Amino acid sequence: MTNPTPTTVAAAPPPAHSFGIDVGGSGVKGGVVDLSTGALIGERVRVDTPQPATPDAVAKVAAQIVTEFGWQGPVGVTLPSVVTGGVARTAANIDKSWIGTDAAALFSDALGGLPATVLNDADAAGLAEDRYGAGRDAKGVVVLLTFGTGIGSAVLHNGILLPNTEFGHLEVHGKEAEHRAAASVREDKDLSWKHWAKEVSHVLETFEDLLWPDLFIAGGGISRKSEKWIPLLKNRTPVVPATLRNTAGIVGAAMAAAGLGGL
Ligand code: BGC
Repeated sequence: MTNPTPTTVAAAPPPAHSFGIDVGGSGVKGGVVDLSTGALIGERVRVDTPQPATPDAVAKVAAQIVTEFGWQGPVGVTLPSVVTGGVARTAANIDKSWIGTDAAALFSDALGGLPATVLNDADAAGLAEDRYGAGRDAKGVVVLLTFGTGIGSAVLHNGILLPNTEFGHLEVHGKEAEHRAAASVREDKDLSWKHWAKEVSHVLETFEDLLWPDLFIAGGGISRKSEKWIPLLKNRTPVVPATLRNTAGIVGAAMAAAGLGGL
């Protein structure tokens, strides 16, 4: 018997379009993404996050959104959770029953068997901003932080993501980073921009001493008011506002579904 001639199978190129769903505390948003530009094709669809935001209730809403587009390919979904091997390990701002849920299997079932990739919300935003947004010309280590109810983090090296970093929970001068400098802290304590920027500086200084990034990207709703606080920051690494606004999560989820960014 002769051995068959070995053949090299080239990796399939990423598809032109992909689908992303961003699950947030107040809304579930989805859309078709053009992977050559990172732009949405057509409208973004938003449905209120069901309350309580249990796995089954959220999966139903995700299926409703995908059906609206008649989408038939792989789907990426973000969660405000650590996600390993498709399983949610934590649950910030969604129902605690997510913890231990095989979210990839749940979404795939709800979507009639379409392949589903599930990832952390900040990781998705980081993938998208790094490739199409504020980090597209950056080299080296890029750290995206989302300032919202909590602080989410994404660490990328030359476009490849190190998932589930959770730096928002790192202790900074005796307090969790997100309890010091999330956008919600500024609102809850009615802090001035100057005072809040000082807290953000402490957080960034701690992160940069550990990670030595080349660039920080500030995401979350508060990045829209960046001129009020980014100029007040005292840390050494450049900080730029995110540019994709409310589509970063959808775009990053779509990238993950297409196998981009190392996931
Ligand atoms: C969670 C992260 C999440 C971030 C933003 C944090 O409290 O631990 O997993 O990415 O909030 O939603």
